[in-house]
Amino acid sequence: MKILVSGGTGYIGSHTVVELQQKGHEVVIVDNLCNSSAGVIRQIGKITGTEPLLEVFDLTDRHRVEDFFGRHAGLDGVIHFAAFKAVGESVQKPLDYYRNNLVSLMNILEAMHQQRVLHLVFSSSCTVYGQPESLPVTEEAPLQKALSPYGNTKRISEEMIADYAPLSGIKAVLLRYFNPIGAHPSALIGELPLGEPNNLLPYITQTAIGKRAALSVFGADYNTPDGTAIRDYIHVCDLANAHVLAMERLSKLQQQQKPEVFNLGTGHGNSVLEVIQSFERVSGLKLNYRITDRRPGDIEQVWADVSLAESVLGWKAVSSLDEMTRSAWNWEKYLASQ
Ligand code: NAD
Ligand code: UD1
Repeated sequence: MKILVSGGTGYIGSHTVVELQQKGHEVVIVDNLCNSSAGVIRQIGKITGTEPLLEVFDLTDRHRVEDFFGRHAGLDGVIHFAAFKAVGESVQKPLDYYRNNLVSLMNILEAMHQQRVLHLVFSSSCTVYGQPESLPVTEEAPLQKALSPYGNTKRISEEMIADYAPLSGIKAVLLRYFNPIGAHPSALIGELPLGEPNNLLPYITQTAIGKRAALSVFGADYNTPDGTAIRDYIHVCDLANAHVLAMERLSKLQQQQKPEVFNLGTGHGNSVLEVIQSFERVSGLKLNYRITDRRPGDIEQVWADVSLAESVLGWKAVSSLDEMTRSAWNWEKYLASQ
């Protein structure tokens, strides 16, 4: 297949490009490099032997999107990663988030319809569930009001695709990621947070390498076995693999009534302290951390029911928590060596 990967120089996109190329698919990336660098293309080339084509422009520019689709006849599908993703920033700049995440999706949907590119895989998030009433959370769980404009863009995007797909003939898979962490085993690509990280794993590895003084553990008074919050951490390479399977499924699917939704997690939750212990185990280091207040907006615990992805996509996460933290640490050390 020939696939447009929007946001393909970003964290999850770059790992998915590697997976697509290694399965023999051709990739064209569109990214405006607002949160990534063109150097990722060279790194992907080192891993796969092929540097994917990169076109640098902003997907909110409708004319550029139409022009792109006009020039790339024969695209089989789109994997749409490109979006802003910083929850806190979205509260400060809501319109930037609505514009970037929603207008880029609208432009892509219209261009796909016009050019008869009819397969779409979309990056959604478990944030749409809020704090679920029962765990593990299935795809049938009611969606809750978003806690941030970022979360709201994911919910609206899902609805937009569901509204447009039957009219346009587009078949779509919406993937709800739990907490992606880790890096490619080669340590040539990984997550590149700009400034102070918000997410747990980059904060842990940056503390261990000496870029940050100490990790704050946000709350140890939750109703969980060790008092810290629980998430379903999933290796980014396992996640990448699911996108390839989703696209391959769409290419074979004759009919689709409405977009299919899949949770992508491991099906197990780990607490913040368990993640720290795993990191200390694989790195042989003691992490400097302290317990602080809860972070506003955080939920207590969530983990996925992944049986649907397993039965329909034939997908299952295979990496252990230690493999995830080890790969994240190897990536941090690689960055420090550059
Ligand atoms: P990322 O920031 O590393 O990658 C996104 C890429 O999109 C970046 O390279 C950025 O430059 C590009 N981009 C953003 N807006 C663009 C625009 N208007 N035009 C062209 N390019 C644009 O993020 P990621 O972690 O790889 O996330 C990928 C997708 O997965 C996002 O949609 C994100 O919301 C979603 N997601 C991520 C997580 C996570 O924890 N990383 C969890 C759930 C969902
Ligand atoms: C965050 C986003 C969510 C997004 C997800 C993507 C918020 C409120 N939610 O989820 O919308 O889909 O990232 O991965 O930002 N923690 C610490 N100290 C830190 C950082 C985090 O203790 O310095 C804790 C958090 O309280 C949480 C866990 O680690 O319990 C994971 O945090 P994080 O990596 O930010 O992910 P989420 O909050 O689950």
